[in-house]
Amino acid sequence: MENRNEALVEKILNVKEKRKAVILAHNYQPDEIQDIADFVGDSLELSQKAAMTDAEVIVFCGVHFMAETASMLCPDKIVLLPDIRAGCPMADMITAESLRQRKKELPGAAVVCYVNTSAEVKAESDVCCTSANAVRVTESLDAEEILFIPDQYLGHYVSTKTDKRMNLWPGYCSTHVRIQPQHISKLRQEYPQARVVVHPECRPEVIALADEVLSTGGICRFARETKAETIIVGTEIGILHRLKKENPGKKFIPASEQAVCPNMKLITLENVLWSLQEMTHEVKVPEEIRLKARSAVDKMMATTV
Ligand code: 13P
Ligand code: SF4
Repeated sequence: MENRNEALVEKILNVKEKRKAVILAHNYQPDEIQDIADFVGDSLELSQKAAMTDAEVIVFCGVHFMAETASMLCPDKIVLLPDIRAGCPMADMITAESLRQRKKELPGAAVVCYVNTSAEVKAESDVCCTSANAVRVTESLDAEEILFIPDQYLGHYVSTKTDKRMNLWPGYCSTHVRIQPQHISKLRQEYPQARVVVHPECRPEVIALADEVLSTGGICRFARETKAETIIVGTEIGILHRLKKENPGKKFIPASEQAVCPNMKLITLENVLWSLQEMTHEVKVPEEIRLKARSAVDKMMATTV
C-alpha cells in the first residue's frame, strides 16, 4: 500500500508540473490528499488561494460548490474536481427556484447565502459568507431583516451574535448533526482540562457546550495558539490529520467518530492522477450566472479583507 501510494504520488507530482497545476485541498480531505496538496485550508482560504494563484489548472480536492466558487473567481483557469459525485447534501437542500419563492414572501430581507450553495443559488443572493465570516458579513448589511440560507444551524449561531431579524432556511449538514451534546458532556467528564472547539454547523445544543465556535481554518489556528494540551474537536474528523501533524505535542479527541463526510472522502490519489492526466472533470459556471454569483462572492471578499 505504502509503495503503491508512493508511486502514485510521484506520478501526480510529475503530471502536475507538466500541466502547471496547483492542488488545493479542504481540511476534511483524506490524509494522503492533504499530504500532496500545495495548500490545505477552509472554504474562505481556498477561495482566496484560487483567486491569487498563477497556475493554469486548479485541482480542487473538496466538494462541488468549492470547485465552482474557484471557477467563478478564476474563469480563465481550468478547475478540475477529481470525482464529480463529490457534492454537498446541504447545498442540495436549496434550489434557485425555491429561493425565488421564499424571497417573494420576505420582500425586505437581504439574502445571505452560505458558500455551501450552487452558483445558481448564489446568483439569487445579496451576499455570500463562509463559516469564518458569517457574523461579520451579516452585521455589515444595511438591511435589518435577513434570509439566511441554507444552514439553519450556522444561521442560528449568527442570530445569537446579531440584533438583525433572522429568517432561517431549514437546511443542515448531515455530518455535523451526528455530533450530539451528550458526546461533548461525556468527553468533558473524561478530560476535565480539555478545551472544546466546534464548527458552527453543529446543533445549537452542541454549540452551547463549546468553548470556541470556529471555521475549520479557525480550529487549526486555535489549536496552534491555545495553551491547552487536550482539545476536543467537534467537526468532520478529516481535520484531525492536520491538527496532529501541526501540533505533535497536543492531544486531539474527536467529539464523534461518526462525523465523517462521505463526499469529501470520494477524492483519492487515483482520481487526482486521472483528473490531471485526462483534464477532467472540469467545473465551469455559465457566464450569466457566474457574473451574478460572483457579485455575491466579491461582496463577501470585500467585507473579509
Ligand atoms: P469551512 O469553511 O469551515 O472549512 O467549512 C466547510 C464545510 O463544508 C464545513 O462542513
Ligand atoms: Fe457539506 Fe457537511 Fe460535507 Fe461540509 S461536511 S461538505 S457541509 S455535507
